[in-house]
Amino acid sequence: MINKSVAELIESEGLLLQEIHIKGWVRTFRSNRFIALNDGSTINNIQCVIDFENTSEETLKRINTGAAVSIKGTLAASQGRGQSVEVQVSEIKVLGDSNPDEYPIQPKKHSFEFLRENAHLRVRTNTFSAVMRVRSKLSFAVHQYFQERNFNYVNTPIVTGSDAEGAGEMFRVTNFKDNEAPLAEDGTVDYSKDFFGKETNLTVSGQLEAETYAMALGKAYTFGPTFRAENSNTTRHLAEFWMIEPEVAFMDLDGNMDLAEDFIKNVLNSILESCKDDLAFLDQRLTQEEKSKPQAERSDMSLLEKLRFVVDNNFKRVSYTEAIDILRNSKPNKKKKFQFPINEWGADLQSEHERFLVEKHFKCPVILFDYPADIKAFYMRLNDDGKTVRAMDVLFPGIGEIVGGAQREERYDVLVEKMKAMNIDEKELWWYLDLRKFGTAVHSGFGLGFERLVQFTTGMSNIRDVIPFPRTPQNAEF
Ligand code: 4AD
Ligand code: MG
Repeated sequence: MINKSVAELIESEGLLLQEIHIKGWVRTFRSNRFIALNDGSTINNIQCVIDFENTSEETLKRINTGAAVSIKGTLAASQGRGQSVEVQVSEIKVLGDSNPDEYPIQPKKHSFEFLRENAHLRVRTNTFSAVMRVRSKLSFAVHQYFQERNFNYVNTPIVTGSDAEGAGEMFRVTNFKDNEAPLAEDGTVDYSKDFFGKETNLTVSGQLEAETYAMALGKAYTFGPTFRAENSNTTRHLAEFWMIEPEVAFMDLDGNMDLAEDFIKNVLNSILESCKDDLAFLDQRLTQEEKSKPQAERSDMSLLEKLRFVVDNNFKRVSYTEAIDILRNSKPNKKKKFQFPINEWGADLQSEHERFLVEKHFKCPVILFDYPADIKAFYMRLNDDGKTVRAMDVLFPGIGEIVGGAQREERYDVLVEKMKAMNIDEKELWWYLDLRKFGTAVHSGFGLGFERLVQFTTGMSNIRDVIPFPRTPQNAEF
């Protein structure tokens, strides 16, 4: 008796006529004869054909959508369309029942909203199982990319005393009980009496700590959870998301842009290879979804075409200043179609502007660089013009910003000035400043939002549908 997954059975015509044993869940059961069985190993089901005359009435009744079953039988060439092999069942056992009157995931189309409410079961659907398998393979591809290039995987802390982005969008971590926090003389909470003896939060980025490792190991990367308490209810924001942050010593901004572009192309390429069936399914799904949109909003490329396009074409590199010129003179700006009109140099770019540049103007991924210092974080290296910093954002069609990064300010005095100007506590970041005191060097890195990458790869329009259990404002179920 051969124990194999559905994926292996479908691939292995060499096993024809062999006795096999499989376990999985019933997707559909029709004509009291045909079970579409799925075990999660592939988007494809295997058809199991029952000899119903020799199967008890009681068992037949228990073969419902969602039930777990154990099947023994013979692998045979299939007469049916759409599959090469099927199982001629000799023995079936229902391991776990699924009451059809109660089971939420019926073999019909469910809305993504409904499935979000059933996030513990939604991965049993074709769409979510495909997305989550791709997510898993993507995370392997991320590690593979960096490991093959001798980057060191570093686990930066999740509880932190510093605000890496200086944006104050952090979740407090405290051990004080409700209403029992001790107060200091000035009436504020006295965190010196808290668990860590200081104010602590969930990290918004592992970058600052990753820099310390890059300045010793040369090449480092993080891949971990990050948290942002920004109240953004959009299709691209989560309060808890996973970020990949490479950091490299002796690398400047050009090297950083090269790395980001090569990295993204490389992982997408590996998914095009390793997830063919899931991508084919997701490609079809997206094409269907597009059909329900008005013509003007439809994408002219399918999912697979978009992925190949990114892999095969150079990202367009454009300075912030050039981008502002393009935007200022653009049709939507002149016709006052932008919610935030672009008038002057220095304006922060909103997602409507980023999407205009990527989707309408350049029609390819864009790397914007050299942003105004005032709209970027304190740690970015100041250019000689005194007003721009060596920042870069990678902008993607349908997603907007997928990567944010920079060459870091390596000059001690310049960094201290900058921190003063931006009200960042030098005492809190003494260790970060030490890197500029002892063996400082040019170095750069970036952060890629993993869920945004999964979104792009799978063609899912809402970021809540590419992470198993999304955390968003007013929602931490499961
Ligand atoms: O641009 P951000 O804020 O950059 C940093 O945190 C830097 N410390 C990274 C670095 O240089 N090491 O965030 C980086 C990326 C964004 O481009 C976006 O893809 C993602 O993280 N991101 C989010 N993804 C989902 N939900 C959110 N709320 C996100 N905020 C940022
Ligand atoms: Mg950013």
